[in-house]
Amino acid sequence: MPSLSWVELHGAFTHMPLAFLLSVPLFEIGAIVFRKPEWHTVSFWLLVGAVVMAVPSLLTGWFTGNDIFLTRENAQAPAIFYQHRLAAFATSGLAIVLLAWRIKSRDRLPKHALTASILLAAVTAATVGYTGFLGGRLAAVTAATVGYTGFLGGRMVFGGGSEPASASNYVPVNPAAAPAAKNSGVKIPNVEPRLVIAGARLFKELPCQSCHRMEGKGGTSGPDLTHEAQRHADIQWQIEHLKNPQKMKPNSDMPPFDHLSAAELKALAAYLVTRK
Ligand code: HEC
Repeated sequence: MPSLSWVELHGAFTHMPLAFLLSVPLFEIGAIVFRKPEWHTVSFWLLVGAVVMAVPSLLTGWFTGNDIFLTRENAQAPAIFYQHRLAAFATSGLAIVLLAWRIKSRDRLPKHALTASILLAAVTAATVGYTGFLGGRLAAVTAATVGYTGFLGGRMVFGGGSEPASASNYVPVNPAAAPAAKNSGVKIPNVEPRLVIAGARLFKELPCQSCHRMEGKGGTSGPDLTHEAQRHADIQWQIEHLKNPQKMKPNSDMPPFDHLSAAELKALAAYLVTRK
């Protein structure tokens, strides 16, 4: 699955409903304060836009989350991931209720109902703001654990320009930020998260864990690989070792995995060099 593009699309889509929903109560209040009834109409169409754009936002977010957290080996989605998802659905629900209400009244709510609808718009703006805040935190957590910092949302919240995600956004995992990286100092090469994810899947499918422990699970006839990057954080070394263990470790008992394709070897290596 193209996890990278889901991430990028999600980052691109989500900011539209976010900005729209934040603007809805502002235009509503502005319409009253500055006596500009046309602003009320503007707020209606902003709300329509927000609800329409919520669909691709939720879909891309759903695929991104599944790809990064729910289909990975030992996938431990952080609690903030579920909070972000819940907040996103809650926001969308509120926005839909608000829009349905305004459509039903042909957008001519009587005074008290209008006040209530503006309050609901303000609550929706608050939840969308909170969703975005959680999304930014989630991007930072993912950057620390997967090594990817290309999330536009994360970049907005955590500084850094607004340049689009590109290969240059793949930075070494920050050892200080990741809980598993107590004994740091390891220089991790730049790897694409989708390679790491593919490698994690392969690692699970192949019989690696019959001999190797990974994060507490697996056999013990080979070394524990949970912190393999501390031994060999070198993609090329890992590829050569997988193809022919004895070439890199003369007395190794590990069987060769030379039947794997170049892409599979690269993915496995990417996974191994990011185990810090
Ligand atoms: C039959 C058991 C066995 C299987 C299956 C196996 N290994 Fe190994 N592996 C070993 C042994 C034993 C060593 C230690 C060799 C030594 O240090 O002499 C080792 C070493 C390693 C190392 C450490 C290299 C280093 O940095 O020193 C890595 C990485 C590794 N294996 C990855 C894998 C992966 C990935 C798989 C699955 C594709 C796998 N192994 C499957 C037995 C196995």
